[in-house]
Amino acid sequence: MKKLIVGNWKMNGSLAFNEALLRSVLSGLNANNALAEVAICAPSVFLAQAQSLLSGTACAWGAQDVSAHEQGAYTGEISAAMLHELGCRYVILGHSERRAYHGETNELVAAKAQRALAHGVTPIVCVGESLPEREAGQTEAVVKRQLAAVIHAVGHCTSEIVVAYEPYWAIGTGKTATPEEAQAVHSVIRAQLQAATSHADRVRILYGGSMNAANAASLLGQTDIDGGLIGGASLKADDFLKIIASCPLKA
Ligand code: PGA
Repeated sequence: MKKLIVGNWKMNGSLAFNEALLRSVLSGLNANNALAEVAICAPSVFLAQAQSLLSGTACAWGAQDVSAHEQGAYTGEISAAMLHELGCRYVILGHSERRAYHGETNELVAAKAQRALAHGVTPIVCVGESLPEREAGQTEAVVKRQLAAVIHAVGHCTSEIVVAYEPYWAIGTGKTATPEEAQAVHSVIRAQLQAATSHADRVRILYGGSMNAANAASLLGQTDIDGGLIGGASLKADDFLKIIASCPLKA
């Protein structure tokens, strides 16, 4: 299975900036002969632009959130059907910034995952512990609880999700989990998936949190790290391409 490298643009970009960035990424991807599967998750207002620039290329696109509701009177929300119509392959769910600033609970994230899957959009379910939780030895329990809610809601579709382990303390801070620290949590996640589905090996478990051109190779070399969810470094074509080029060749 190829690694999966996903750019999380967060609330960044503009029509002109995105176009320049995507053109550079695409020309680098062609030169690289696609060592990995690649996608970017853009702010929703830019998804039509992503669709027009990325259709038929080696770079897929996705959103950063979706409504838990099907349709109707939910001002400001965007439905999974709308994302599907705009060609989104992925949607990031339960990012720590949404959990922290928008009060998203494990149950809400699980309902969103269900809705996305029902419309053929693959949820990238983010899990991760805060620094106090890590220091209190609760990492495993926190991450398992977050993932369990989603597994419970999506049932036999568990093999169709992507999981991203993002320790909160590593996001945007320049502090990365060591490859060994990350691998330890990834193997816990893998075991939890194995208990839920006989196709756990198909589920990609991404690492996210200050992954960059310098540390990507050692993280991506770990057994249970199947790719990366890249914030800051995905806004610079060179850095993003270097991360993609760091993916080991073996399947
Ligand atoms: P970062 O963000 O790479 O800037 O740390 C990762 C993320 O939040 O998805």
